Amino acid sequence: MGYWWLWWGLTATVVELTVVGGAGEGLIPLSRIAFGSCANQSASQEQEAIWNAIISFNPQLFIWMGDNIYGDIKRPFRVFGKERTIGPWKNVARFVPSSPQEMSSRYLQAKSNPGYSRLRRHPNLTIIGTWDDHDYGLNDAGKELSFPTKTTNQKLLLDFLDEPRNSPRRHQQGVYASYTFGPQGRQVKVILLDTRYHRDPLSSDGTILGDSQWTWLEKELNSTPSAITIIGSSIQVISNISATTGPLFYMESWGRFPKERERLFKVIADSKRDGVIFISGDVHFGEITRFDCAATGYPLYDITSSGLTQAVENTVPSVLHLLIRFVAWLTPTTMRVIDRNCRYKSCTFGQPNFGAIEIDWATTPVTVRSEIRDRSGQPVASVNISLSDLKWGKNMNINSSNTLKKSANISRHCSLEVSLPWIVRYRLAILFYSTLAVLVLVFIGLCCVAKLAYRKCLNKCKHD
Ligand SMILES: *[C@@H]1O[C@H](CO)[C@@H](O)[C@H](O)[C@H]1NC(C)=O
Ligand SMILES: *[C@@H]1O[C@H](CO)[C@@H](O)[C@H](O)[C@H]1NC(C)=O
Ligand SMILES: *[C@@H]1O[C@H](CO)[C@@H](O)[C@H](O)[C@H]1NC(C)=O
Ligand SMILES: *[C@@H]1O[C@H](CO)[C@@H](O)[C@H](O)[C@H]1NC(C)=O
Ligand SMILES: *[C@@H]1O[C@H](CO)[C@@H](O)[C@H](O)[C@H]1NC(C)=O
Ligand SMILES: *[C@@H]1O[C@H](CO)[C@@H](O)[C@H](O)[C@H]1NC(C)=O
Repeated sequence: MGYWWLWWGLTATVVELTVVGGAGEGLIPLSRIAFGSCANQSASQEQEAIWNAIISFNPQLFIWMGDNIYGDIKRPFRVFGKERTIGPWKNVARFVPSSPQEMSSRYLQAKSNPGYSRLRRHPNLTIIGTWDDHDYGLNDAGKELSFPTKTTNQKLLLDFLDEPRNSPRRHQQGVYASYTFGPQGRQVKVILLDTRYHRDPLSSDGTILGDSQWTWLEKELNSTPSAITIIGSSIQVISNISATTGPLFYMESWGRFPKERERLFKVIADSKRDGVIFISGDVHFGEITRFDCAATGYPLYDITSSGLTQAVENTVPSVLHLLIRFVAWLTPTTMRVIDRNCRYKSCTFGQPNFGAIEIDWATTPVTVRSEIRDRSGQPVASVNISLSDLKWGKNMNINSSNTLKKSANISRHCSLEVSLPWIVRYRLAILFYSTLAVLVLVFIGLCCVAKLAYRKCLNKCKHD
C-alpha cells in the first residue's frame, strides 16, 4: 500500500483534490496537522528550532498559511531625507514588488532551508498551502497588483509547493484549493482560500474572494459532508483587533470587510455543514478566538498561528517585549479564548510559533485538540473542541420549518469588538495620546525652565 497518494478530480474550473491511501482499504485517518505562516527565508538560523518542534510533533499534514517567504522589497524606515517612507510627507512607497528572478531565488532559499528540508523528507507527510501578501507580491496588496506579477508569483508558489504540472490550480485565477483526507466517516476536508488575488481595496467593504472563488466555495461547502472541515484563510476571520487598535493602526482581517464576513458565515450556515473550524496567520502573534453567535448555530473557532520567524517580539529589541505584552493586554477582543492554559495573561503569544491540531478519533465524541506551540513544542494557548459541539443549530432552536431561531442563551463570545464601551475600545489610543501630550508638556516645561535659568545667569553675569 505504501505512501498516501494524490488523486485530483477535475471539474470544469474547480479544484478538488482528494488524498486517499493505497488501494482503498486501511485508510489512515488524519490525526495530526501542523500549520504556520510568516517565515523569513533569510533568517535560516532562526528557523532551526521551530522546524525541529514541528517535526517532533510528527504531523501528517503541514499547511503553509501565507507569507511563506518575504518576496517584496522593504525600504528602510525614513521620516526625513531624500527617500521618505513614513508619514504624510513620504515620497516613495515603503514596499515594492521584486523581480521574478529575485522572487524565485528567495523561494529557492526557503526550500533549501535545512529545517524545512528535513520536514519535507518526513515520512508520509503531505505539504499544502496558500499565500498572503508578501508572497503574493506586495505588502497589504489585493486585486490591484498588476499582471504579470500575480500570475508569475502564482506559478512560483505552486512550484514551491510541488504542485503537479497538470493541476487545475495552475490554470485558475488565484491559488484556492480543497483537499479531502482520510476514510469515510472520518474525513477531514481542508479548504484553502485565496484572500489576495480578487480582493478589493481595504476599507471598500467590497469583496475578498471574488465571484469565481465564491461560486467554488459554495460548491465545496455543499458537497459531501466530512466530519471536520478546516477552512484556511491567510487573514484572521473571527478576531477584529482593528476595532481596538484603531485609529493608531489597523490590521488586515475579514472584520474589515463586514459584508463579506457576514456572507461567509451565511454560506457556511446555509450549507448546514457541521464541524467547520478556521485557521489563519498574518498578524505576527498566535491566538485562539471563537464566535458563538454565527448563523451556523454553533461556535466558529479561528486558530491563528503567526509567525514561524516573524513574530512581533522577535522583530523588536528585547527591552520592548514587556511593552508589547502590555499593549496586547490593553487591546481587548471579545472573541479571544482566555483561560488558564495560556502562557501569558493576554492569551496572545508574540514569539515564534506554529499551530498544532490533534484529532482524537477514538474518543466519543471525537475531540479536536487545537494548540499554538512555541519553539520548544510546548503549548502556549490551547482549546479542546468537542465535535459534538460543532453541530449545525446546536445553540439555537430549530422550528418546524427547519429554520434556526436564536435561543435565549447569551454566549460569551457574541458581542462584536465595535460594541465595546468606547473607554475600553479606545484605551490604547487614549493612553498613547495622553502619554504623547504629557511628554510634549514636559518638554515645553523644560524649555521654559532652561530659558529662565539662562536669563537669570545672563543678568548675574551683567552684574558681575
Ligand atoms: C507510512 O505509511 C505506510 C502506509 O500507510 C506505513 O506502513 C508506514 O509505517 C508509514 N511510515 C511511518 C514512518 O509512519
Ligand atoms: C529577514 O532576515 C534578514 C536576516 O536576518 C533580515 O536582514 C531581513 O530584514 C529580514 N526580513 C524581514 C522582512 O524582516
Ligand atoms: C472591525 O473594525 C473596523 C474598525 O473599527 C470596523 O470598521 C468594522 O466594521 C469592524 N467589523 C466588524 C465585523 O465588527
Ligand atoms: C485538552 O485535553 C488534554 C487531554 O486530552 C489535556 O491534557 C489538556 O489540558 C486539555 N486542554 C484544555 C485547554 O482543556
Ligand atoms: C443553554 O445553556 C444551558 C447552560 O449552559 C445549556 O444546558 C442548554 O443546553 C443551552 N440551551 C441551548 C438551546 O443551547
Ligand atoms: C421559523 O422561524 C422562521 C425565522 O424566524 C420564521 O420565518 C418561520 O415563520 C418559523 N416557522 C414556524 C413554523 O414557526
